[in-house]
Amino acid sequence: MAFVTRQFMRSVSSSSTASASAKKIIVKHVTVIGGGLMGAGIAQVAAATGHTVVLVDQTEDILAKSKKGIEESLRKVAKKKFAENLKAGDEFVEKTLSTIATSTDAASVVHSTDLVVEAIVENLKVKNELFKRLDKFAAEHTIFASNTSSLQITSIANATTRQDRFAGLHFFNPVPVMKLVEVIKTPMTSQKTFESLVDFSKALGKHPVSCKDTPGFIVNRLLVPYLMEAIRLYERVSDGDASKEDIDTAMKLGAGYPMGPFELLDYVGLDTTKFIVDGWHEMDAENPLHQPSPSLNKLVAENKFGKKTGEGFYKYK
Ligand SMILES: NC(=O)c1ccc[n+]([C@@H]2O[C@H](COP(=O)([O-])OP(=O)(O)OC[C@H]3O[C@@H](n4cnc5c(N)ncnc54)[C@H](O)[C@@H]3O)[C@@H](O)[C@H]2O)c1
Repeated sequence: MAFVTRQFMRSVSSSSTASASAKKIIVKHVTVIGGGLMGAGIAQVAAATGHTVVLVDQTEDILAKSKKGIEESLRKVAKKKFAENLKAGDEFVEKTLSTIATSTDAASVVHSTDLVVEAIVENLKVKNELFKRLDKFAAEHTIFASNTSSLQITSIANATTRQDRFAGLHFFNPVPVMKLVEVIKTPMTSQKTFESLVDFSKALGKHPVSCKDTPGFIVNRLLVPYLMEAIRLYERVSDGDASKEDIDTAMKLGAGYPMGPFELLDYVGLDTTKFIVDGWHEMDAENPLHQPSPSLNKLVAENKFGKKTGEGFYKYK
């Protein structure tokens, strides 16, 4: 199998090198690595917009759960989109699902893919190992993208020999609903790669924005300090600042936000926010915006991550 893959890889590589340097890549075939919250959403949206998708995760069980989640989500989309024609809705769901194949072996499926979108665990070493391996098996023209929220794209790209075909593609949760994609360009990302990813984002029905490889990109750079400030306000409650309920109400009714900061923290996952803040604190310990929070750390230590575990700043069960 490995021999066949390598032979195939060479023939794809040699024919696609010239075209890769000549024009943008029109992404038709996408490999999504990681079938969790984000990867399943990315696979769903790519398939629903006419792309052929392979979804990769570590076990068949995880993949079965991902596909079940995708089907449920597609049924909700179909109910709204085809409210007047249930048969057309069913056909949309079946057709979309039929374009998502699954695999537990990333290296064996990337030989003819146009784009690899990685959405695995937020750990630089694990991401580096994955991309280093895929770099050997993917076609020459294949673009690699990471959906990381907090790691530097350049340090992930450095595990490969295709830094010019490597960028960040940062989606938002829940992917089928949220319109934004941040396309992150490192100093090594070629303009063609960048433009190909902008086109791909638009083909998904998303609104791409561009950002350099700077901590937090745009949204988290602004959002995470705001969330941490809300926690700090709440931590000073004994001195009479404000309760978390009042802070949430104030931001919803006074600033027009759809969720208050504590509701949003629980929705995003307290572990995720803590991970981002810890990383920033390590880089710049003096910055008052990057200071760790005792109440966030305590909740995470107790495995209270928010909605996904049933308890965070609020209780959900
Ligand atoms: N959760 C969010 O709101 C959010 C938003 C934007 C970006 N992100 C980023 O997206 C990525 C994934 O986040 P998530 O919330 O979907 O995580 P998740 O835990 O829901 O899913 C990760 C999946 O990756 C799989 N996985 C881990 N290592 C793997 C490997 N080596 N090969 C194949 N599969 C592997 C796991 O089995 C799991 O199913 C992270 O980098 C995160 O920073 C998350």
